Order: sequence, then C-alpha cells, then structure tokens
Amino acid sequence: MTEQHNAPHPASRLWGGRFIGQTDALMRRFNDSIGFDLRLWDADIRGSIAYAGALARAGVITADEAAALTRGLRAVHAEFAEGRFEVKPDDEDIHTAVERRLKEIVGEVAGKLHTGRSRNDQVATDLRLFCLDAIRATQRALLDAQSALLAQAQSHIGALMPGYTHLQRAQPITFAHWCLSYFWPFARDVERLDDCAQRTAVLPLGSGALAGSPFPIDRAALAAELGFSLRGVARITQNSLDAVSDRDFVAELLFCCALIGVHLSRLAEDLIVYSTAEFGFVTFDDAYATGSSLMPQKKNPDAMELARGKAGRLIGNLTAILTMLKGLPMSYNKDLQEDKEPLFDSLDTLALALPVAAGAIRSLKVNAARMRAALDPAMLATDVAEYLVRRGVPFREAHHLAGRAVALAESKGIALSQLAMSDWQAISPRFDDDIAQVFNFARSVASRDVAGGAAPRATQEQIRQAEEWLDARRKL
Ligand code: ARG
Repeated sequence: MTEQHNAPHPASRLWGGRFIGQTDALMRRFNDSIGFDLRLWDADIRGSIAYAGALARAGVITADEAAALTRGLRAVHAEFAEGRFEVKPDDEDIHTAVERRLKEIVGEVAGKLHTGRSRNDQVATDLRLFCLDAIRATQRALLDAQSALLAQAQSHIGALMPGYTHLQRAQPITFAHWCLSYFWPFARDVERLDDCAQRTAVLPLGSGALAGSPFPIDRAALAAELGFSLRGVARITQNSLDAVSDRDFVAELLFCCALIGVHLSRLAEDLIVYSTAEFGFVTFDDAYATGSSLMPQKKNPDAMELARGKAGRLIGNLTAILTMLKGLPMSYNKDLQEDKEPLFDSLDTLALALPVAAGAIRSLKVNAARMRAALDPAMLATDVAEYLVRRGVPFREAHHLAGRAVALAESKGIALSQLAMSDWQAISPRFDDDIAQVFNFARSVASRDVAGGAAPRATQEQIRQAEEWLDARRKL
C-alpha cells in the first residue's frame, strides 16, 4: 500500500505507546470517527471541565492544575464556538482532538486530565449530554407543530367534512376534529421524550474503561454539576461495565424519532390526499410546494411527500442501532462507535421535517365549501339506525333496517335522503315523517357530543384541553 508510507506512526496517537508497526491508511479512515463526532465538542468540553474539577476535589491534581485545565478547555471551547478550531490529521475522534489542542494551549498538564478516565466513559457521557439537548430541541419543534394544528382547529370548528375509515366516507366530522387528531399523537411524543430523558440523564463518568476509577471521584457531585438529575436528585450509573456499554438511551431516542416520523407520515399522507384536485379540501402555500420541470401546470406537495418519505430513514436508523447492539459482548466494543451516525441523522431529519410541517400546516388554505360538498347523505345511515334505537329498536336490528334503506336507495339510484315516506314505512312502520330531520350533517356532528367526540361543543372542550396541555408544557 503506497498510501501507508504517508500514514503517521501510531506513536503520535494517544494510545500509541505499545505500537511499533504502522496503522494501515485505510484502517485509519475506517477507525476514525472525527468526521462525524466533531459535533460532540460542546458536550465533550463541558464534561472535561467538570471532570477537571472532580479530579482536584479528589486530590488527584492540584487546584492550580485544575484551573489551568479549565482555562485551556474554555479556550478550546471558544475556538469551536467561533469556528476557529482546526482538525489535524492525527485527530482520531473528538476526544483526542480536544486533548491534543488542550496540550498545545496549556502544555504538559493537559496529560493529567484523562487520569482515571477512558474514552469509553467519556463518550458515553458526551453522548448522553448531547441527547439531552437534542431531546429538548425536538420537543420544542413538536410543540410548534402542535400549535400550528391547534390554530387551524380553532379557525375551523364548524367546518364540516367527511370522516374516513378505510379511506371510505364514514361519518361527518369537522376539520377542527381532524386537526386535533394529530395534536395528541405529538403530545404523546413529547411525553415519551420526557420519559426517554429520565433514563438518559444518568452519569457514566467515573466508570473508566470498564472497571471503574481507582481515584475517589465524587460521581454524584459530577452528576449534579452536569445536570444528570431527576427531581433534584443526582443520578449515576450503578455498574461500570453496563455504564460504558449501555446505548439503550440512543435506541430509545431513535424509537421516539421513528414514531414521530410515523406520525408525520400519516399527517402528510392525509394532507397529500386532501390537496388533490379530486378532493380539493386544502391548498398548500407556494412556500411549501414545488413545480414540475416538464408539466407547467403542476404544483406538487413536496414538503408533505418528504415528511412522509423521511419515515423510512427514521425507522431504518432505529433498526440499525438495534441490530448493532444485538449480541454485543459486555462491555465496550468499537461497534458502539456506530451509534452516532444514525442518531445524528434522525435528529437532523426531524430538525427540518418538523418545522417544515409546522409551516405547511400553518399556511394551509382550507376550502370548507369543497369539504362540505364531499358529504353524502349515505354517511348518515348510522344516524338512521340511531333514530330507530331512540324508538326502542335494538341496535342490531336498527342497523339491519338502515342497511335495507341504503340498498333500496341504491337500487333506485337516489340519495338515501330522497326515499319516499312509503319506502321508509315499507322497511319499518317505526319510521315517521321526522326521519327527514335526520338528514342534516351539522345536526349529526352536533349529536356526537361525548367527551372526545366530533361535536363542535366537545371540540371547544378539546381545544381547551389542548391549550392547557401546551401551556403546562411551555411553563416547564
Ligand atoms: N470514538 C469512540 C466511540 O465513539 C470513542 C471511544 C473509543 N474507545 C476505545 N476504547 N477505542 O466509541
């Protein structure tokens, strides 16, 4: 391999002491993670600053040394924050890059920072810190999408539309009720992320490579300082082997992302269908659509198609992490380095998909007249059965009789509402003149007034619940 001649000797790497032979150039590319873990810089440096303090408190380094390390780490932090940090060819990953630069700034004392620490407990700590930030950002994006849905609901409490099962017209509902049917899945996603954060906020640092630190590090104090706590109580891992090999928190977060993707894909699919010329219920704002390079008339719902399509990679990333974790021997194995790219990809995907979906929903033009025109009197067949139930007919029999009315109207080629009184009477003497009153879509929707039902009054209450939920979240 000619490339190998250019490869620096491993002695220049952190772990190079025991090595005599060179690392194969392709092996270095295969092994290095700096290309994707650079973004852990903030978490890595925060963790190291806290760790320097812990080493000093344990009497492993002096207060002056800790101060020098902290000063140096802050300088490295500033370089990253200002985009001035330069990655060098020997920087294998974010941890070695920060330590290399720290040494250039503060000198030999930098070599004391890693005392009792391994990159194994370090990367687990960094990743948890990173995930906690990402969870909060994803929750904020979800809340914004929810408030867009809520705003559309508030504007369309009375907008009647067909509700579908099996994508067949089923019963009349309102557009507000449809909007809110996606508010609650996102609410569950936000709460699921809270739950995920609880298990993420546990400190692995102090676990060393696998067996724990030989120095008396106050792990609880470290945990508190880094924000690893639940209801004010600091939380630390209880087994050093598990601490360095556990990536359940990544798998959980990827599951949360995948399910958000599934929710987004369903919302997107509904809106894509509703935006077709055949439905014409909604029109996307130009800001969230694109044209065709060939067909001048086309306006395509790309924002929603991508929101639907992204579910594929979100589910794929979850599958990737679970497959990587399956069958791994205890404790750290380099396979675990494969945790990052799927994680970053899912978070980045949602960081775009959620705000785009929120914008598309917020700017959606709703065509209430088209929705209303799509209602068909046959959608009131259930109401016909309920009319009979109110007259003492058992529901099963009422269902059957209403079905016969539907069949009769169909055979005559007329709408269910156009059956003559004699037709009704022929089916059942319990049908009376007031059957005509059943054929009123607004009345049908208003009758579904149970909590959580489609009635405008129940929807007002649902909106109140949604507002309360959002307010409570925003106060957190
Ligand atoms: N880049 C590594 C990772 O992401 C850091 C841990 C390396 N540990 C090791 N024993 N080589 O997993």
